[in-house]
Amino acid sequence: MSVAKNIDYVAGIKRMKAKKNAIILAHYYQTGDIQDIADFVGDSLALSQKAASNNADIILFAGVKFMAETAKILAPSKKVLLPDINAGCSLADSCKASDFLNFINENPGRTIISYVNTTAEIKALSDIICTSSNAVQIIESLPADEKIIFAPDRNLGNYVLNITGRDIIIWPGSCHVHEEFSLEAILKIKKENSNAKIIVHPECELPVRMVADFIGSTSALLKFTEKENSNVYIVATEPGIIHQMKKINPHKTFIPAPPVDSTCGCSECNFMKLITMKKIYYCLKNETPEILVERETLEKAQKPILKMMEISEKLEL
Ligand code: 13P
Ligand code: SF4
Repeated sequence: MSVAKNIDYVAGIKRMKAKKNAIILAHYYQTGDIQDIADFVGDSLALSQKAASNNADIILFAGVKFMAETAKILAPSKKVLLPDINAGCSLADSCKASDFLNFINENPGRTIISYVNTTAEIKALSDIICTSSNAVQIIESLPADEKIIFAPDRNLGNYVLNITGRDIIIWPGSCHVHEEFSLEAILKIKKENSNAKIIVHPECELPVRMVADFIGSTSALLKFTEKENSNVYIVATEPGIIHQMKKINPHKTFIPAPPVDSTCGCSECNFMKLITMKKIYYCLKNETPEILVERETLEKAQKPILKMMEISEKLEL
């Protein structure tokens, strides 16, 4: 009879991190236990910045594939690992390179701004990358008459278009997690908690954004809960972020905004949640799956990311 080994994954991960000079970068949408063992937890912008400047030999990305790819593009000499190769993204999948190339050719003479939630191939076709933390400022840093293509998120695109009033053509992609929130359910919770603040990620659809007290990237939402006086927040983004919100504000209440339909009653990203402690352990142990980006694509994709970082640094974002 074979006896299953009882492995202490957390201890094993700590041991291997030290031995292999590896760091774990985790997105706010990871589970709380994974966020707690990470060397750095952040939103897409902060994670890119961290990937570009660290002394590790190995970056293990607790997040999704486009994030690990971005880390590889910014740190080509490092080994970048993703514990589950199926950790994709419905938003990145909604913009295929061949279709996007046709779209660019049909709309010539425009500056191409792509959200970081894209494949390396889409980044390679872009002029500047942005994240939800800096999309508005990146667009406003361009001359007022510059014509823009924004991809791939139609909701973030619509949000920045409304704020900046710029000439923007938007690719019609979306994130299934952020489009699933039930406005009716959010308003019902608000009715029962009249002092609650509704906080919303810009990947959400317009009706949900319209009832928001605050709209922002995951890190902006986190900061808002810290400085705002209210004791209750209805959180319309992936509920993983609530782990950090509770850590910073232990006496405040955070209610995940419910989706139209789900088994868990909250809007979890099934891709983000593919990453588990056990998979991190074996990924670090076996140094696989490794993320590789073809050289020409990597070189082309690096330029628009560095451009974003240059603008972000200048604007101190
Ligand atoms: P940010 O981390 O930029 O807020 O993006 C959210 C997201 O959807 C990542 O997948
Ligand atoms: Fe992609 Fe949406 Fe999941 Fe973010 S939450 S990784 S945009 S599917």
